[in-house]
Amino acid sequence: MQVVKYVFQPHGDERGQLVSLEEYNDIPFEIKRVYYMYSTVEGAVRGHHAHKSLQQILFCVHGSCKVLLDNGREKKVVPLEKPYEGLYVANNMWREMYDFSPDAVLMVLASEPYNEADYIRDYDEFLKYVNVTKAEE
Ligand code: TYD
Repeated sequence: MQVVKYVFQPHGDERGQLVSLEEYNDIPFEIKRVYYMYSTVEGAVRGHHAHKSLQQILFCVHGSCKVLLDNGREKKVVPLEKPYEGLYVANNMWREMYDFSPDAVLMVLASEPYNEADYIRDYDEFLKYVNVTKAEE
């Protein structure tokens, strides 16, 4: 499984850092939604779902967390620790976010508005959807 992590060049000067993200230039899709999570409780796991068509890029703009990516056949754990790094999460990819530092702010850029019908929240259903049989797992 190929993990795509974008590393952006911050505009830094004596005042500090600034990261700019433009749709199509920096982000490979039209940004239809932005959401972020913070005050995540110690030990909490978020995500635990896949999307049928949504693409996303995850930024831990403050603090750190880990992201488990699972395409049904292979799993990878990706740490997000830098505010200028964005993890691309394609559709048909199971994801779980965990190990949030108390100060973590996880910002997500999404290619579509919120749509519950696009979610696959059951892992066995996800395996069926991506055509992975239990024996292969
Ligand atoms: P949830 O899907 O449980 O978040 P995660 O999978 O990242 O842990 O979403 C939590 C709540 O927020 C749920 O009631 C749905 C709502 N929500 C929106 O209204 N809009 C959104 O864009 C998202 C991501 C969630």
